[in-house]
Amino acid sequence: MTKKMQIWKCKICGNIVEVLHEGSGALVCCGELMILMGENSVDASTEKHIPIIEGNIVKIGSVLHPMEDKHYIEWIEGVGKDGEVAKKFLTPKDSPVAKFSFEVMKARAYCSLHGLWK
Ligand SMILES: [Fe+2]
Repeated sequence: MTKKMQIWKCKICGNIVEVLHEGSGALVCCGELMILMGENSVDASTEKHIPIIEGNIVKIGSVLHPMEDKHYIEWIEGVGKDGEVAKKFLTPKDSPVAKFSFEVMKARAYCSLHGLWK
């Protein structure tokens, strides 16, 4: 059983998928069950991952998260009060900041090394 907006990852090939519609089946990739990515919200490491919402802007970390080739924020997601959901996909050359066209109520981000954050 899946839930809308869950993020699942294949531990073999690295595929990552998001659920857009709930179903009763299990998600399988490379012949194995996919892993549900938990949404971390307590940051114990030195670099920061918690999304900080300022109106329609979301930045990752009270001190901006590093953006390096092997360790960077892959995407930032913003959720609005009227059901809007948008993602900004980033490269290591970008800043870990996203500007949306709506006021953001909730946000998530995906770090290439440290997983999913809210
Ligand atoms: Fe990280």
